[in-house]
Amino acid sequence: MEITLSVIKADVGGYVGHSSCHPDVLQKAKESLERAKGKGLLIDYHVMACGDDLQLIMTHQKGEDNEEIHKLAWDTFVDCTNIAKRLKLHGAGQDLLADAFSGNVRAMGPGVAEMYFTERESETIVIFMADKTASGAWNLPLYKIFADPFNTIGLVIAPNMHSGFTFEVHDVTEKKKIMFNAPEEIYDMLVFIGSPHRYAVKAVYHKESGEIAASSSTQHLALIAGRYVGKDDPVCIVRAQGKFPAVGEILEPFASPNIVKGWMRGSHHGPLMPVSFCQARATRFDGPPRVIAAGFQLANGKFVGPNDLFDDPAFDLARQQANEIANFLRRLGPFEPHRLPLDEMEYTTMPEIAKKLAPRFKDM
Ligand code: F6R
Ligand code: MG
Ligand code: MG
Repeated sequence: MEITLSVIKADVGGYVGHSSCHPDVLQKAKESLERAKGKGLLIDYHVMACGDDLQLIMTHQKGEDNEEIHKLAWDTFVDCTNIAKRLKLHGAGQDLLADAFSGNVRAMGPGVAEMYFTERESETIVIFMADKTASGAWNLPLYKIFADPFNTIGLVIAPNMHSGFTFEVHDVTEKKKIMFNAPEEIYDMLVFIGSPHRYAVKAVYHKESGEIAASSSTQHLALIAGRYVGKDDPVCIVRAQGKFPAVGEILEPFASPNIVKGWMRGSHHGPLMPVSFCQARATRFDGPPRVIAAGFQLANGKFVGPNDLFDDPAFDLARQQANEIANFLRRLGPFEPHRLPLDEMEYTTMPEIAKKLAPRFKDM
Protein backbone atom coordinates (compact mmCIF):
# COMPACT_ATOMS: atom_id res chain seq x y z
CA MET A 1 0.00 0.00 0.00
CA GLU A 2 1.36 3.42 -1.01
CA ILE A 3 1.31 5.88 1.90
CA THR A 4 2.31 9.48 2.43
CA LEU A 5 3.15 10.41 5.99
CA SER A 6 2.96 14.17 6.59
CA VAL A 7 4.00 15.89 9.79
CA ILE A 8 3.07 19.57 9.68
CA LYS A 9 3.60 21.74 12.76
CA ALA A 10 3.21 25.31 13.89
CA ASP A 11 3.26 27.40 17.03
CA VAL A 12 -0.18 29.02 17.06
CA GLY A 13 0.04 30.34 20.62
CA GLY A 14 1.67 29.31 23.89
CA TYR A 15 0.24 28.32 27.26
CA VAL A 16 1.78 29.74 29.48
CA GLY A 17 4.18 32.11 27.68
CA HIS A 18 6.06 29.93 25.18
CA SER A 19 6.12 26.80 27.36
CA SER A 20 3.37 24.50 26.06
CA CYS A 21 0.11 24.08 24.10
CA HIS A 22 -3.39 24.59 25.56
CA PRO A 23 -5.69 21.51 25.61
CA ASP A 24 -8.48 23.46 23.81
CA VAL A 25 -6.11 24.12 20.90
CA LEU A 26 -5.26 20.41 20.67
CA GLN A 27 -8.96 19.53 20.83
CA LYS A 28 -9.77 21.92 17.96
CA ALA A 29 -7.03 20.35 15.83
CA LYS A 30 -8.39 16.85 16.55
CA GLU A 31 -11.90 17.89 15.49
CA SER A 32 -10.59 19.34 12.25
CA LEU A 33 -8.53 16.24 11.34
CA GLU A 34 -11.36 13.91 12.40
CA ARG A 35 -13.62 15.68 9.88
CA ALA A 36 -10.98 15.27 7.16
CA LYS A 37 -10.70 11.57 8.03
CA GLY A 38 -14.48 11.24 7.84
CA LYS A 39 -14.43 12.73 4.34
CA GLY A 40 -11.72 10.26 3.27
CA LEU A 41 -8.99 12.89 2.77
CA LEU A 42 -6.89 11.37 5.57
CA ILE A 43 -6.41 7.68 6.28
CA ASP A 44 -5.54 8.50 9.88
CA TYR A 45 -4.09 11.23 12.10
CA HIS A 46 -2.57 11.87 15.49
CA VAL A 47 -2.48 15.31 17.12
CA MET A 48 0.06 16.12 19.81
CA ALA A 49 2.29 18.89 21.13
CA CYS A 50 5.96 19.39 21.81
CA GLY A 51 6.31 22.47 24.02
CA ASP A 52 4.38 25.31 22.37
CA ASP A 53 4.28 23.56 18.96
CA LEU A 54 1.15 21.90 17.65
CA GLN A 55 1.94 18.75 15.65
CA LEU A 56 -0.39 17.36 12.98
CA ILE A 57 0.71 13.81 12.14
CA MET A 58 -1.25 12.52 9.14
CA THR A 59 -1.37 9.61 6.69
CA HIS A 60 -3.05 9.85 3.27
CA GLN A 61 -2.65 8.80 -0.34
CA LYS A 62 -2.25 12.22 -1.96
CA GLY A 63 1.56 12.32 -2.16
CA GLU A 64 4.00 14.93 -0.86
CA ASP A 65 3.37 18.68 -1.17
CA ASN A 66 -0.30 18.05 -1.86
CA GLU A 67 -2.44 21.17 -1.93
CA GLU A 68 -5.48 19.61 -0.22
CA ILE A 69 -3.40 18.24 2.66
CA HIS A 70 -1.44 21.45 3.11
CA LYS A 71 -4.67 23.47 3.00
CA LEU A 72 -6.17 21.18 5.65
CA ALA A 73 -3.14 21.84 7.89
CA TRP A 74 -3.28 25.60 7.23
CA ASP A 75 -7.03 25.82 7.91
CA THR A 76 -6.54 23.76 11.08
CA PHE A 77 -3.83 26.15 12.29
CA VAL A 78 -6.11 29.12 11.51
CA ASP A 79 -9.00 27.56 13.50
CA CYS A 80 -6.63 26.80 16.37
CA THR A 81 -5.29 30.38 16.23
CA ASN A 82 -8.86 31.62 16.71
CA ILE A 83 -9.11 29.52 19.89
CA ALA A 84 -5.69 30.84 20.98
CA LYS A 85 -6.87 34.42 20.37
CA ARG A 86 -10.05 33.85 22.35
CA LEU A 87 -8.02 32.51 25.30
CA LYS A 88 -5.48 35.31 24.74
CA LEU A 89 -2.69 32.72 24.63
CA HIS A 90 0.77 34.13 24.11
CA GLY A 91 1.86 34.78 20.52
CA ALA A 92 -1.43 33.56 18.96
CA GLY A 93 -0.82 32.64 15.32
CA GLN A 94 2.90 33.44 15.58
CA ASP A 95 4.05 30.93 12.93
CA LEU A 96 1.37 31.78 10.35
CA LEU A 97 3.35 34.25 8.31
CA ALA A 98 0.93 34.70 5.40
CA ASP A 99 -2.56 36.20 5.39
CA ALA A 100 -4.06 33.51 3.18
CA PHE A 101 -3.16 30.01 1.99
CA SER A 102 -1.55 29.82 -1.44
CA GLY A 103 -1.00 26.25 -2.62
CA ASN A 104 1.57 24.93 -0.13
CA VAL A 105 2.43 25.64 3.53
CA ARG A 106 6.19 25.56 2.83
CA ALA A 107 7.56 29.09 3.16
CA MET A 108 4.35 30.22 4.91
CA GLY A 109 5.66 29.53 8.44
CA PRO A 110 4.66 25.97 9.46
CA GLY A 111 7.35 23.25 9.47
CA VAL A 112 6.85 20.25 7.16
CA ALA A 113 8.40 16.78 7.03
CA GLU A 114 6.82 14.33 4.58
CA MET A 115 7.66 10.97 3.06
CA TYR A 116 6.04 8.77 0.44
CA PHE A 117 6.65 5.02 0.61
CA THR A 118 5.20 1.57 0.16
CA GLU A 119 4.15 0.31 3.59
CA ARG A 120 6.24 -2.71 4.54
CA GLU A 121 4.96 -5.94 6.11
CA SER A 122 5.84 -4.24 9.38
CA GLU A 123 6.31 -0.48 9.13
CA THR A 124 8.06 0.98 12.17
CA ILE A 125 8.31 4.78 12.34
CA VAL A 126 9.93 7.15 14.83
CA ILE A 127 8.89 10.82 14.73
CA PHE A 128 11.18 13.25 16.52
CA MET A 129 9.76 16.63 17.50
CA ALA A 130 11.84 19.38 19.10
CA ASP A 131 11.09 22.69 20.79
CA LYS A 132 13.35 25.75 21.28
CA THR A 133 15.79 24.80 18.57
CA ALA A 134 16.58 25.30 14.89
CA SER A 135 16.26 23.17 11.79
CA GLY A 136 19.91 21.99 11.73
CA ALA A 137 19.45 20.22 15.09
CA TRP A 138 18.99 16.86 13.33
CA ASN A 139 22.33 16.95 11.50
CA LEU A 140 24.36 15.36 14.27
CA PRO A 141 21.85 12.63 15.25
CA LEU A 142 21.10 11.76 11.58
CA TYR A 143 24.83 11.47 10.90
CA LYS A 144 25.25 9.14 13.87
CA ILE A 145 22.19 7.05 12.99
CA PHE A 146 22.99 6.55 9.29
CA ALA A 147 26.77 6.95 9.01
CA ASP A 148 28.47 6.21 12.33
CA PRO A 149 29.25 2.54 13.06
CA PHE A 150 30.03 3.43 16.69
CA ASN A 151 26.34 4.35 17.00
CA THR A 152 24.72 1.97 14.51
CA ILE A 153 26.26 -1.48 14.61
CA GLY A 154 23.86 -2.53 11.82
CA LEU A 155 26.07 -0.61 9.36
CA VAL A 156 28.78 -3.17 10.15
CA ILE A 157 26.94 -6.44 10.77
CA ALA A 158 23.54 -6.23 9.01
CA PRO A 159 23.97 -7.28 5.34
CA ASN A 160 20.92 -5.22 4.20
CA MET A 161 22.44 -1.99 5.57
CA HIS A 162 26.12 -2.58 4.94
CA SER A 163 26.35 -0.60 1.69
CA GLY A 164 25.30 2.57 3.51
CA PHE A 165 22.97 5.52 3.05
CA THR A 166 22.73 8.63 0.86
CA PHE A 167 22.23 12.04 2.51
CA GLU A 168 20.37 14.93 0.87
CA VAL A 169 21.85 18.14 2.27
CA HIS A 170 20.26 21.57 1.78
CA ASP A 171 22.08 24.88 1.80
CA VAL A 172 19.26 26.84 3.45
CA THR A 173 20.84 30.21 2.65
CA GLU A 174 21.54 29.71 -1.06
CA LYS A 175 18.56 27.35 -1.52
CA LYS A 176 20.67 24.62 -3.16
CA LYS A 177 20.90 20.88 -2.48
CA ILE A 178 23.54 18.16 -2.83
CA MET A 179 23.61 14.36 -2.34
CA PHE A 180 26.43 12.66 -0.38
CA ASN A 181 27.07 8.92 -0.20
CA ALA A 182 28.05 7.49 3.18
CA PRO A 183 30.47 6.04 4.07
CA GLU A 184 32.52 7.01 0.98
CA GLU A 185 32.03 10.77 1.21
CA ILE A 186 31.63 11.38 4.95
CA TYR A 187 34.67 13.65 5.22
CA ASP A 188 33.33 15.90 2.43
CA MET A 189 29.83 15.82 3.90
CA LEU A 190 30.99 16.74 7.42
CA VAL A 191 32.59 19.94 6.10
CA PHE A 192 29.02 21.09 5.43
CA ILE A 193 26.69 19.43 7.93
CA GLY A 194 29.03 20.25 10.83
CA SER A 195 27.73 23.80 10.30
CA PRO A 196 24.01 23.28 10.89
CA HIS A 197 23.10 26.97 10.80
CA ARG A 198 23.52 26.93 7.03
CA TYR A 199 23.46 23.24 5.96
CA ALA A 200 20.66 20.90 7.02
CA VAL A 201 20.16 17.19 6.30
CA LYS A 202 16.78 17.17 4.57
CA ALA A 203 16.48 13.46 3.82
CA VAL A 204 18.33 10.16 3.96
CA TYR A 205 17.90 7.24 1.50
CA HIS A 206 18.84 3.57 1.71
CA LYS A 207 21.63 3.48 -0.88
CA GLU A 208 21.01 0.05 -2.44
CA SER A 209 17.21 0.34 -2.82
CA GLY A 210 16.89 4.14 -3.02
CA GLU A 211 14.08 3.92 -0.44
CA ILE A 212 13.41 6.91 1.78
CA ALA A 213 14.78 6.39 5.32
CA ALA A 214 14.41 9.80 6.97
CA SER A 215 12.87 13.18 6.22
CA SER A 216 13.19 16.37 8.23
CA SER A 217 11.73 19.87 8.22
CA THR A 218 14.34 22.42 7.15
CA GLN A 219 12.17 25.53 7.09
CA HIS A 220 14.10 28.38 8.62
CA LEU A 221 11.57 30.81 10.09
CA ALA A 222 14.02 33.67 10.44
CA LEU A 223 14.93 33.37 6.74
CA ILE A 224 11.30 33.17 5.64
CA ALA A 225 10.22 36.22 7.59
CA GLY A 226 13.38 38.32 7.39
CA ARG A 227 12.80 39.24 11.04
CA TYR A 228 12.36 37.44 14.37
CA VAL A 229 9.15 35.39 14.43
CA GLY A 230 9.90 32.33 16.52
CA LYS A 231 11.89 29.12 16.51
CA ASP A 232 12.01 26.55 13.73
CA ASP A 233 11.34 23.84 16.30
CA PRO A 234 11.92 21.12 13.71
CA VAL A 235 10.51 17.63 13.21
CA CYS A 236 12.06 14.53 11.68
CA ILE A 237 10.55 11.22 10.52
CA VAL A 238 12.76 8.10 10.57
CA ARG A 239 11.81 4.61 9.32
CA ALA A 240 13.13 1.80 11.51
CA GLN A 241 13.99 -1.91 11.45
CA GLY A 242 14.78 -4.29 8.59
CA LYS A 243 16.96 -2.45 6.06
CA PHE A 244 16.78 0.67 8.25
CA PRO A 245 18.45 1.16 11.64
CA ALA A 246 16.78 -0.46 14.67
CA VAL A 247 14.65 1.72 16.98
CA GLY A 248 17.44 1.54 19.57
CA GLU A 249 20.06 2.66 17.02
CA ILE A 250 17.80 5.58 16.08
CA LEU A 251 17.36 6.71 19.71
CA GLU A 252 21.00 6.14 20.72
CA PRO A 253 22.45 9.55 19.63
CA PHE A 254 20.15 11.25 22.15
CA ALA A 255 21.76 9.36 25.04
CA SER A 256 24.62 11.90 24.93
CA PRO A 257 23.12 15.38 24.68
CA ASN A 258 24.13 17.57 21.81
CA ILE A 259 24.33 21.38 22.05
CA VAL A 260 21.94 23.27 19.78
CA LYS A 261 20.84 26.85 19.25
CA GLY A 262 17.40 28.28 19.98
CA TRP A 263 17.22 28.57 23.77
CA MET A 264 15.82 31.79 25.35
CA ARG A 265 14.76 34.36 22.76
CA GLY A 266 16.18 32.12 20.04
CA SER A 267 19.54 33.61 20.95
CA HIS A 268 21.32 31.02 23.10
CA HIS A 269 22.97 27.63 22.82
CA GLY A 270 21.65 24.92 25.10
CA PRO A 271 21.63 21.13 25.49
CA LEU A 272 18.99 19.17 23.54
CA MET A 273 17.28 17.22 26.34
CA PRO A 274 15.43 13.99 25.38
CA VAL A 275 12.19 13.86 27.39
CA SER A 276 8.87 12.03 27.67
CA PHE A 277 5.76 13.63 26.16
CA CYS A 278 4.61 15.04 29.51
CA GLN A 279 8.03 16.58 30.17
CA ALA A 280 8.10 18.47 26.88
CA ARG A 281 7.38 21.80 28.57
CA ALA A 282 10.02 24.46 28.16
CA THR A 283 10.10 26.22 31.52
CA ARG A 284 13.67 26.83 32.78
CA PHE A 285 14.96 29.96 31.03
CA ASP A 286 12.27 29.03 28.46
CA GLY A 287 13.97 25.67 27.90
CA PRO A 288 16.30 23.97 27.81
CA PRO A 289 15.65 22.76 24.23
CA ARG A 290 13.63 19.51 24.28
CA VAL A 291 13.16 16.56 21.97
CA ILE A 292 10.48 13.88 22.12
CA ALA A 293 10.29 10.63 20.13
CA ALA A 294 6.91 9.17 19.15
CA GLY A 295 7.09 5.57 17.95
CA PHE A 296 4.37 4.11 15.72
CA GLN A 297 3.65 0.92 13.83
CA LEU A 298 1.60 1.62 10.71
CA ALA A 299 -1.19 -0.81 9.81
CA ASN A 300 -2.53 0.01 6.32
CA GLY A 301 -1.82 3.67 7.01
CA LYS A 302 -3.46 3.60 10.45
CA PHE A 303 -1.37 4.68 13.43
CA VAL A 304 -0.75 2.08 16.10
CA GLY A 305 0.70 4.21 18.88
CA PRO A 306 2.30 6.50 19.81
CA ASN A 307 4.77 4.85 22.11
CA ASP A 308 6.59 7.51 24.18
CA LEU A 309 10.13 6.33 23.44
CA PHE A 310 12.16 8.64 25.71
CA ASP A 311 9.96 7.71 28.69
CA ASP A 312 12.67 5.33 29.82
CA PRO A 313 15.14 5.46 32.74
CA ALA A 314 17.83 4.62 30.17
CA PHE A 315 17.64 8.32 29.20
CA ASP A 316 17.77 9.62 32.81
CA LEU A 317 21.51 10.10 32.64
CA ALA A 318 21.19 12.07 29.39
CA ARG A 319 18.64 14.31 31.11
CA GLN A 320 20.99 14.78 34.06
CA GLN A 321 23.90 15.55 31.74
CA ALA A 322 21.71 18.02 29.84
CA ASN A 323 20.91 19.76 33.14
CA GLU A 324 24.62 19.91 33.98
CA ILE A 325 25.43 21.37 30.54
CA ALA A 326 22.55 23.83 31.04
CA ASN A 327 24.00 24.97 34.39
CA PHE A 328 27.44 25.30 32.89
CA LEU A 329 26.24 27.39 29.95
CA ARG A 330 23.94 29.53 32.12
CA ARG A 331 26.98 30.60 34.16
CA LEU A 332 28.15 32.49 31.06
CA GLY A 333 25.01 34.67 31.17
CA PRO A 334 25.11 37.17 28.29
CA PHE A 335 28.49 35.93 27.00
CA GLU A 336 29.20 33.72 23.99
CA PRO A 337 29.26 30.78 23.45
CA HIS A 338 26.07 30.58 25.57
CA ARG A 339 24.74 33.61 23.71
CA LEU A 340 24.78 33.10 19.92
CA PRO A 341 27.17 35.03 17.65
CA LEU A 342 25.84 38.51 16.80
CA ASP A 343 24.53 37.62 13.34
CA GLU A 344 22.63 34.52 14.52
CA MET A 345 20.63 35.98 17.40
CA GLU A 346 16.90 36.29 16.87
CA TYR A 347 16.65 39.24 19.23
CA THR A 348 19.16 42.07 19.19
CA THR A 349 19.46 45.66 20.32
CA MET A 350 22.79 46.03 18.50
CA PRO A 351 21.84 48.31 15.56
CA GLU A 352 20.09 50.79 17.88
CA ILE A 353 22.79 50.87 20.54
CA ALA A 354 25.60 50.95 17.95
CA LYS A 355 23.95 53.95 16.29
CA LYS A 356 23.49 55.75 19.59
CA LEU A 357 27.10 55.16 20.63
CA ALA A 358 28.72 55.71 17.22
CA PRO A 359 29.90 59.26 18.09
CA ARG A 360 31.73 57.90 21.16
CA PHE A 361 33.77 55.35 19.18
CA LYS A 362 37.13 57.06 18.46
CA ASP A 363 39.79 55.90 16.00
CA MET A 364 42.72 54.22 17.74
C1 F6R B 1 9.97 31.40 22.00
C2 F6R B 1 11.08 31.43 22.94
C3 F6R B 1 11.06 32.34 24.09
C4 F6R B 1 10.75 33.78 23.73
C5 F6R B 1 10.74 34.66 24.99
C6 F6R B 1 10.29 36.08 24.69
O1 F6R B 1 9.87 30.20 21.31
O2 F6R B 1 11.99 30.70 22.81
O3 F6R B 1 12.29 32.28 24.78
O4 F6R B 1 11.64 34.26 22.78
O5 F6R B 1 9.85 34.13 25.94
O6 F6R B 1 9.05 36.00 24.08
P1 F6R B 1 8.16 37.24 23.62
O7 F6R B 1 9.05 38.14 22.79
O8 F6R B 1 7.05 36.63 22.83
O9 F6R B 1 7.69 37.92 24.87
MG1 MG C 1 5.93 30.23 21.00
MG1 MG D 1 8.19 26.24 19.97
